[in-house]
Amino acid sequence: MIYIRLCLVIAIFGLSVIVAPQNIAPYRIGVGRADCTGPPVEIAFMGYANLKQKGQGLHLRQYSRAFVVEKDNQRVAFVSVDVGMVGHALKREAVKKLQARYGEIYTLDNIMVTATHTHGAPGGFLMHLLYDISILGFVPQTFDALAQGIYLSVKRAHENMHEGRIFLSKTTVLNANINRSPTSYLVNPPEEREMYEHDVDKTLTQLRFINTDDQLIGVFNWFAVHPVSMNNTNHLVTSDNMGYASMLLEKEYNPTKLSGKGKFVGAFANSNLGDVSPNILGPKCAKTGNACDVHTSACPKGEGECFSSGPGIDMFESTKMIATRIYEKASTLLKENEGREITGEISYIHQFVDMPSYNFTTINPNTNKTQLIKGCIPAMGYSFAAGTTDGPGSFAFQQGTITDNPLWNAVRDFIVSPTQEDISCHSPKPILLATGRATFPYEWQPKIVATQLLKIGDLIITGVPGEFTTMSGRRLKRKINETAFEILMNSSRQNTQDNPNNLEIIIAGLANVYSSYITTYEEYQQQRYEAASTIFGPHTLSIYIHQYQKLLKAMLDKTKVEQGPIPPYLNDRMLSLNTGVVFDGHPIGEDFGSVKVQPKKEYKLGETVKVSFIAGNPRNNIFHEKTYFTVERQINEERWKVTFTDANWETRMYWERKSTILGFSDIHITWTIGPDTTPGVYRIRHFGNYKYILGGVFPYEGTSRAFKVNSE
Ligand SMILES: *[C@@H]1O[C@H](CO)[C@@H](O)[C@H](O)[C@H]1NC(C)=O
Ligand SMILES: *[C@@H]1O[C@H](CO)[C@@H](O)[C@H](O)[C@H]1NC(C)=O
Ligand SMILES: *[C@@H]1O[C@H](CO)[C@@H](O)[C@H](O)[C@H]1NC(C)=O
Ligand SMILES: *[C@@H]1O[C@H](CO)[C@@H](O)[C@H](O)[C@H]1NC(C)=O
Repeated sequence: MIYIRLCLVIAIFGLSVIVAPQNIAPYRIGVGRADCTGPPVEIAFMGYANLKQKGQGLHLRQYSRAFVVEKDNQRVAFVSVDVGMVGHALKREAVKKLQARYGEIYTLDNIMVTATHTHGAPGGFLMHLLYDISILGFVPQTFDALAQGIYLSVKRAHENMHEGRIFLSKTTVLNANINRSPTSYLVNPPEEREMYEHDVDKTLTQLRFINTDDQLIGVFNWFAVHPVSMNNTNHLVTSDNMGYASMLLEKEYNPTKLSGKGKFVGAFANSNLGDVSPNILGPKCAKTGNACDVHTSACPKGEGECFSSGPGIDMFESTKMIATRIYEKASTLLKENEGREITGEISYIHQFVDMPSYNFTTINPNTNKTQLIKGCIPAMGYSFAAGTTDGPGSFAFQQGTITDNPLWNAVRDFIVSPTQEDISCHSPKPILLATGRATFPYEWQPKIVATQLLKIGDLIITGVPGEFTTMSGRRLKRKINETAFEILMNSSRQNTQDNPNNLEIIIAGLANVYSSYITTYEEYQQQRYEAASTIFGPHTLSIYIHQYQKLLKAMLDKTKVEQGPIPPYLNDRMLSLNTGVVFDGHPIGEDFGSVKVQPKKEYKLGETVKVSFIAGNPRNNIFHEKTYFTVERQINEERWKVTFTDANWETRMYWERKSTILGFSDIHITWTIGPDTTPGVYRIRHFGNYKYILGGVFPYEGTSRAFKVNSE
């Protein structure tokens, strides 16, 4: 008996010895999500630079997703936002809100804010004229919605922090992305291209966060693809392919919660997506389906525009297919691969850099002569106006343009002319817009950018202030790895917790400041869209490599760098031609929330329910964390259960202005009944606010009549 007890004690003791080390949590971790949806109507979307692409409703809500990690009093936060890009003013505002609450725990230096780069969300938040001009200027409502959402996601991550562990793993996603400037990629050196199988990165890198009960609390994935599955004819706010992938992952791990709710956070953040398209059927001429010219992406006269699409029959199906492919790989990875645990120390470094004045000398490997590398004053090339095969531009500009045109130059010079120095600095780029010389009414494009590294053990997240092309990202990654390897291998640093053989470098694009594109020097010579939009000239990438190597050394050596020049903050000078809501009205005999079109009495699975309400302007209230409508199923006489909201893929909201003079408008809600829907009695309710003609904003609501959903 005693013997048995003793054995038991030994066994339990032994077990605890074996188990205990695994449960040591090296970090404190927290994840959070918050709604940051912008005004869904009347404001132009950011991305395609198309004035006519204004919001007319809502398909998917925008969210900000954050994680916070801390060890030994060192803390970093990473944020991925469903938005076109992030500007300094936006990050600064979110940090200001965090500091008002938590003091100096969060600073510009230890938070990295990145955009997924969806092209289906309202703009007007960047405070640089070129980026806000197609939105008709600055839109405070968009800016505030984003700043608040970013703040709240970090706050929630902060407040949920507990002991936990972090694991890293990788997988390959084929069939979700292609290169949209393949001829440019091909001019990179053959020995460099030979290191890679594809002309875009197909790797998905995953970081998972596990609490001490072995529960998965959050997953952050990085993958390189433009969220442009929804094309420039879309008018519904959407987080596009990456946003929907997040929603699918969150649905899987928050199974009983409504879309956008629940503790588990699943993010898909961007990477070196500069030349990467999700429209994998490739470019075709719109009218004939013939191939476009590979270098100029032009179509013969009469064959229409050159644009890419696919893989679905329309843009909604394409979005769903790309999202599902990315999500499924991430989900499988979670189940099938344990991943490698990350345990090392946390550090971070941040520096503002004035790109036009950056210079250094180097030995040119081709000539063995010293060469001066320097940045240029920002300028956009002709091919910028050609747009891309994901969203063609206007005025018959072609990609790959290296000769200028006197007429366009005259138009350009009417705005502001580039100096001789600008022209030679940017060569062979013909300058269409000398954005760095324009000061009226304020800066057109940034000169000062943010450069930043976050280090969690042997993972280094490189936050870059723009869209790196595939090879630019790969080159930067290789250089960071090499430099870190050299430093960490140095015998005098043997006490480090990091294993130099295990380094993982993530390129987190569109971080902190937006400065358009970054191509390699070789790609730059081709002057396709991405090169024409590389605003600091041919050596932009070399400068970044130089700068990030410098930051990396300082971070690993624990030396401080200067803050650098602070970007101007121009909030008191913003130009805006967008008007607010004037007032809302409704026809006599009706009221706000009255049902204008009732649902049918019965539906089968797969059918689409449509209802219309007399409505106010959705800009009166963006309903963060709430919804403009609910689809409800009857439980009993009194109780209805909300089954879908405006955040669901299955539902859409369209807003229609019936009369500008009288302020009349309708809201149309559709719900496509999915195959897994529980049959029963349903109704749709709409919530809104109207603006009274004599002032004040008031809530209203409306409810459709009940209808039956049958099992077939
Ligand atoms: C956008 O997608 C729709 C289908 O959803 C298609 O009819 C249209 O031609 C596409 N337009 C462009 C410019 O890609
Ligand atoms: C440059 O120098 C290296 C090493 O000194 C040499 O191997 C190479 O041939 C030189 N290249 C040229 C173009 O002179
Ligand atoms: C990082 O650099 C080291 C040294 O050059 C090399 O052995 C290793 O394979 C590199 N890792 C990656 C992921 O490129
Ligand atoms: C290795 O460390 C020593 C001492 O800190 C330093 O002098 C040397 O330059 C380092 N070497 C490299 C390759 O970083």
